[in-house]
Amino acid sequence: MAFILPVQHLALQLESVEAGFQIKKLPTPQPGLGSAIIRIEAAGVLSYHRDVYNGGRHYSFPTPIVGGLSAIGRIAALGPDATALKEGQLIYVDCVIRARDEPDTLFLSAIHDSSAEGSKKLMRDVWRDGTFAEFARFPLENCIPLDEARLCGSLGYSISDLMYMSYLLVPFGGLRDIKLEPGETIVVSPATGGYGGAGVQVAIAMGARVIAMGRSEEKLARLKEHVLNGSPNAQIETMKMTGDEATDLAILKAFGTIDAVLDFTPPQASKSLHLRSATSALRRNGRVSLMGFVEQPVVPWTLVANNIAMKGKLMYERTDMIHFVKLLERGLFPRGKAFVDTKAFELNDWKAALDIAAEHTGIGKQVVLNL
Ligand SMILES: NC(=O)c1ccc[n+]([C@@H]2O[C@H](COP(=O)([O-])OP(=O)(O)OC[C@H]3O[C@@H](n4cnc5c(N)ncnc54)[C@H](OP(=O)(O)O)[C@@H]3O)[C@@H](O)[C@H]2O)c1
Repeated sequence: MAFILPVQHLALQLESVEAGFQIKKLPTPQPGLGSAIIRIEAAGVLSYHRDVYNGGRHYSFPTPIVGGLSAIGRIAALGPDATALKEGQLIYVDCVIRARDEPDTLFLSAIHDSSAEGSKKLMRDVWRDGTFAEFARFPLENCIPLDEARLCGSLGYSISDLMYMSYLLVPFGGLRDIKLEPGETIVVSPATGGYGGAGVQVAIAMGARVIAMGRSEEKLARLKEHVLNGSPNAQIETMKMTGDEATDLAILKAFGTIDAVLDFTPPQASKSLHLRSATSALRRNGRVSLMGFVEQPVVPWTLVANNIAMKGKLMYERTDMIHFVKLLERGLFPRGKAFVDTKAFELNDWKAALDIAAEHTGIGKQVVLNL
């Protein structure tokens, strides 16, 4: 499939935080060394995207800026140094942009410049605009090939539904980091949010038994139903957190050996003691992936006495994405609504998309913009 890049394209641009978004006709980005131009088909909308761009989260980014995050699209044009990507190919566009001369300098496309000098410079001068546009320019290495015939043909995923990858990839990064093995038992805490729920789905796909912690029995029941709809043989237990450290520890111990913990505690729950209970319930040599924000994640003596390994993890590595796509292409995840309930919006309806994204959250739920 050959693309002719138009002179101009439509993009959702934020002139400034005060002025807000406007759909604009902007010059279409052009390819150069190290970059690809992607015809965006579905761009993911985060539950807190609205708060990022209205200044509520005080995230640091340059303006004007085209909004966005990760996306699914087709390669429309390639820089001269591309060797494997092909025009027309379906790809996942990853939002984590890394400096080539220092890969530890990274930022989230169109969301946050990470406040370091290097990442600020890269976002401001080189990779500023995001995926809420007909065309976007991204580094070649951020384009992850997808087997369209397999995923959209035999497995029947829609391109919009494939965007749910952007949720699933995050816990996959943490779970690979602590080397979760098939057959192990993992606690996901809390499990009823967007990323916690995705963590449950990924751990099940990786062959683990999951204990899903949460404070709402109703949401835990929905989570279990969603998982069993898609994977009837999944081993999933739920546990209502009581808020009392010793009680929660006793409930967890009753589940038997626990090998690992994946935590996605949000800042508003940072003082909750549930992760101390979960960490204390681990077997000797157990592992914890810390992906959220907890102030007191551990009882120090338990950590030492039981050889517990605790690792923080931001997002995932490129190898994790390649590996994740293999899992998806092998059919290890459910299909249809058992995979994800997608609410899709046209670019003109961007405001509704940002509003609905704040409510349509939790396991198997996402909002996308179709461009
Ligand atoms: N490390 C990374 O790379 C990475 C990437 C993405 C996100 N994150 C972080 O992951 C965290 C979760 O994000 P999310 O989008 O999944 O959030 P979310 O959808 O808003 O879910 C929040 C979860 O926390 C629970 N919760 C809220 N207040 C609580 C409280 N006071 N006590 C106990 N539980 C409480 C919610 O339970 P209810 O369902 O009962 O409300 C829900 O399970 C955020 O901190 C985010 O920054 C990290």
